[in-house]
Order: sequence, then C-alpha cells, then structure tokens
Amino acid sequence: MAATLLVLNGPNLNLLGTREPGPYGTAPLDAIESDLADAFPAVAFSFRQSNGEGALVDHLHTAHEQARGGVVFNPGGYTHTSVALRDAVAAIDPPVVEVHLSNVHAREDFRRTSRIAPACVGQITGLGATGYHLATRYLLDA
Ligand code: DQA
Repeated sequence: MAATLLVLNGPNLNLLGTREPGPYGTAPLDAIESDLADAFPAVAFSFRQSNGEGALVDHLHTAHEQARGGVVFNPGGYTHTSVALRDAVAAIDPPVVEVHLSNVHAREDFRRTSRIAPACVGQITGLGATGYHLATRYLLDA
C-alpha cells in the first residue's frame, strides 16, 4: 500500500516565490510540492498550507488518521511561538519532521528556538526545498 504523508506549511509560505527570495529562494510553494510528488511517485501526498494556527492544529489531528506515514511540517513563524502546535505534534502518532527552507540558526536570535522541534523526530534547516525531499526520504525509511 502507498505511504500516506502530509506536507504541511504554515503562515506566509503561500507567498513563496515572491516573499524574501534571499532566505527563501524563488520557487513557489506549488512548484516545491509538484517536484516532491514527481520525486516520490509511489507516495500518496496530501499538501496543505494555512496561515492560521488553529487550522494547522486541525490538519495535524487529521494526519493522525490519514497520514500514518508521517508529516513534513514547516510551521513558519509559529515555529518560534506556538505551544498549541507543539502539543498537537506530541498528541499524534505519525512521526513529524520539522523543515525550514532557511537556516534558522544563521538568522535573528529569535529564530534559533523552536517550540515544536522537541516534539518532532528531527529538524532539517537551511537546505531549501531539498529539506522536504530529505524529510520524505526519512519518513519512508522510518
Ligand atoms: C521558515 C523560517 C521561519 O523562521 C520563518 O518565520 C518562516 C519560514 C523557513 O522555512 O525558513 O516563515 O520556517
């Protein structure tokens, strides 16, 4: 049976392509998603993006039933603030890999802390869209 994975992106990541190309590159989110689907044709991906914390919590809850293979999660700015998202990651069974396009450790001090990463199986940061591919590879092998 095909592995089912959720690729979940948080606030402002819908603006990729035009948003701050320095740290985030020029690829739009839909191109990142279609490249991922092309690279892993045997995986049944769900791609979701929301700017709202509650909607992201709801997507993680849904993943508990519908993305048993795991979640590739870029929480955007909520990474550094959200207890609710950390608790949602901790509450579900599927493994969650936190991904950041930019190297959060090489930027402002406030980006160095993730409230969510301690509840994840791991974090990939600074490798651009390749991070989503590496997280997928990990989840397929896990
Ligand atoms: C980000 C890093 C976060 O600090 C920032 O708020 C984002 C994007 C990244 O992918 O590099 O929105 O998660």
